[in-house]
Amino acid sequence: MKARIIPIVRAVRTTLPPGRDLVAPPEGELLDLRGRRVRDLRISVTDRCNFRCVYCMPKEIFDDDYAFLPRSKLLSFEEIVRIARIFVEQGVEKIRLTGGEPLLRKHIENLIEQLAKLPVEITLTTNGSLLRKKARALKDAGLHRVTVSLDGIADDVFKRMNDVDYAVGDVLDGIAAAAEVGLAPIKVNCVVKRGANDDQILPLARHFRGSGHILRFIEYMDVGSSNGWRMDEVVPSAEVVARINAEFPLQAVDANYPGEVAERWRYADGGGEIGVISSVTQAFCATCTRIRLSTEGQLYTCLFAQSGHDLRAMLRHGAGDEALRREIAAVWRGRDDRYSEIRTAATVLPGSKVEMSYIGG
Ligand code: GTP
Ligand code: 5AD
Ligand code: SF4
Ligand code: SF4
Repeated sequence: MKARIIPIVRAVRTTLPPGRDLVAPPEGELLDLRGRRVRDLRISVTDRCNFRCVYCMPKEIFDDDYAFLPRSKLLSFEEIVRIARIFVEQGVEKIRLTGGEPLLRKHIENLIEQLAKLPVEITLTTNGSLLRKKARALKDAGLHRVTVSLDGIADDVFKRMNDVDYAVGDVLDGIAAAAEVGLAPIKVNCVVKRGANDDQILPLARHFRGSGHILRFIEYMDVGSSNGWRMDEVVPSAEVVARINAEFPLQAVDANYPGEVAERWRYADGGGEIGVISSVTQAFCATCTRIRLSTEGQLYTCLFAQSGHDLRAMLRHGAGDEALRREIAAVWRGRDDRYSEIRTAATVLPGSKVEMSYIGG
């Protein structure tokens, strides 16, 4: 059968009216001001990283003098688990551990072991550098799957992107280690920055075709205040799909679940699946079910929020579970964020947006 060749431009996802979701929520479920449920809790376990990706932690800013958080300010594992449990009771179905580089947090497997007792999926986003060493312990602790960042398949390009001279082969070895222990399906995330690594789109696609791993291309975002973002450096997902489609015909695939960030495509000849994440050219705020807990226990209702809600202070001043539950519910019910939908030249100006390494990617 001849493959259906896909239209490159899709309709913009529109905002759902308040009180509505793609699936009707059970009665009494927590909804924000735009009718969105809370499903996905992303926890940053460290603001540190051993990479200095140009789009995330540029070296000039994250240098030897940069004031990373002292240990006393980080949420303890016990504190994280307490908050996570309350979120799960409120409807969260997936927890993602992020950072910074989450595998730099000492004994992260102990945290995973505790979280894995909750009825949720536990996932983790990593740069892969410590995966060979940690994959088995992560799997044994109860981690379900990993997403690995990889911004190029040519060593020179990748080294320029991570800016610490880290080699592609070591990340590929980390991915192999994760696959060996069954942390699957493995997703490989590539942030595309025009003029920096967009020549890697096809080589990456060729490399991961048929591997069983899901390669995803992410539009470079104006997150944080330090990456000097410019719109002309964004490669629209439509262009990514067109470039790959020209060599390997693609077919659109339905989302796995309502509100999935990535748009899915499959190789028409059966070589597996890829995804594109278009938070700049096709915002997905209308179905955004994500909430973020920063390394020091601030709760953020949007990746682009300018301030958070201090749960650590509550925890350390002896708040009980019921008080925490009420606070979390109030924060979500008051949520009106849709930054990516209303991004303008004025909103991207460097200002007080928090860094992604702090809030969690
Ligand atoms: P799964 O579907 O569970 O595999 O994960 P995911 O696609 O929800 O999460 P992942 O962490 O892999 O997201 C990939 C990238 O999408 C992130 O690193 C961000 O660049 C971007 N992203 C994720 N969530 C948001 C969000 O809420 N807002 C915006 N603007 N971008 C997001
Ligand atoms: N734009 C898009 N994604 C980003 N990430 C970090 N900074 C940015 C940015 N400016 C995401 C990438 C990376 C993960 C750790 O965070 O997906 O893989
Ligand atoms: Fe580190 Fe990931 Fe940020 Fe790169 S994108 S600097 S690996 S946290
Ligand atoms: Fe959600 Fe904010 Fe991202 Fe929109 S910009 S998808 S509201 S986190």
